[in-house]
Amino acid sequence: MRIFSAIRPTGEIHIGNYLGSIKEWLFLQDKNECYFCIADLHAITTPYNPKTLRKNILSLASTYLALGIDSLFIQSEVKEHTELAWLINTIVPVSLLQRMTQFKDKSKEHKEYINAGLLNYPVLMAADILLYKSEKVPVGQDQKQHIEFTRDIALKFNKQFGETFVLPEILVSKNQAKIMSLKDPTKKMSKTGDPKACIFLKDKEEEIIKKIMGAKTDTEKIIKFDAEHKKGISNLLSIYSAFSDKAIALIEKEYKDKSYAEFKKDLGELLVLKLRDFKKKYNEYLNHPDYVLDVLDKGKKRAQEKASLTIKEVRKKMGLD
Ligand code: TYM
Repeated sequence: MRIFSAIRPTGEIHIGNYLGSIKEWLFLQDKNECYFCIADLHAITTPYNPKTLRKNILSLASTYLALGIDSLFIQSEVKEHTELAWLINTIVPVSLLQRMTQFKDKSKEHKEYINAGLLNYPVLMAADILLYKSEKVPVGQDQKQHIEFTRDIALKFNKQFGETFVLPEILVSKNQAKIMSLKDPTKKMSKTGDPKACIFLKDKEEEIIKKIMGAKTDTEKIIKFDAEHKKGISNLLSIYSAFSDKAIALIEKEYKDKSYAEFKKDLGELLVLKLRDFKKKYNEYLNHPDYVLDVLDKGKKRAQEKASLTIKEVRKKMGLD
């Protein structure tokens, strides 16, 4: 199976990004043809600092490697991504882009930065996926609309120019599809929200404990998964389950007569333990940039091989060659 996914180098990676995407990638990479990418061209659609972008890209590459991803590349280094995005732009209705949830949300968030790149974000994302004829896209639940958009565009292209693209499907891991904010569990955990509501992979050990102990829960004091009425504790149970690989029902049983404080303390310690190994490896990669650049270069060449074949085919079908 062919698989594509990406993360924007827009800041620190948090446990939502990890559980929603990279954890799943690790299972997939052994048995499939995987393309994992650093979406730098998507990162520049929201306000950013050009002086730190390159640093963020290399930091994200080191994060991928420290978590165990074997092959990766930088989106802007494979020029076929932007070429295909332009080509498919010509069949995308503007009204469809204006209706996308992320465009509406980000336009509200950055009123002074509503650029055409933000509007066309889903088109570039569709190009990323279609370029590799990807069958599955492992992402968090928040990306569902973008994958549906990609399918619609692939279908439209195939109808207009002849069978070319595979219709990709979203791949979401059940419990970890959406990790919520620790302070407001009705909202998703986000890189740009309140840092106290978010556990970053690189957080210091005492910060992790403090954030988990301060996570919002209800007053009922029963450790039970109920995503409707007990959003806070349910979110913490999902995180516990994902990091311990234990079923939620089993965790509920283990904590049947225990307090929220005891549960939170154990969860904090579990996260500290699991992230300790990551941080050590991350620092090693960060201190060996030549190695990281070499991996990125190999990834670029591998991606380009596949991407150039698709572009050739698309140019021909569209009458450009
Ligand atoms: P980004 O950087 O916003 O998010 C990266 C991945 O993390 C997932 N995610 C979450 N999962 C669970 N709980 C959360 N709280 C949470 N927050 C984020 C996202 O679903 C995503 O899988 N547009 C993409 C980047 C991209 C891409 C692509 C993805 C560019 N081209 C092509 C797939 C295919 C994004 O939002 O990245």
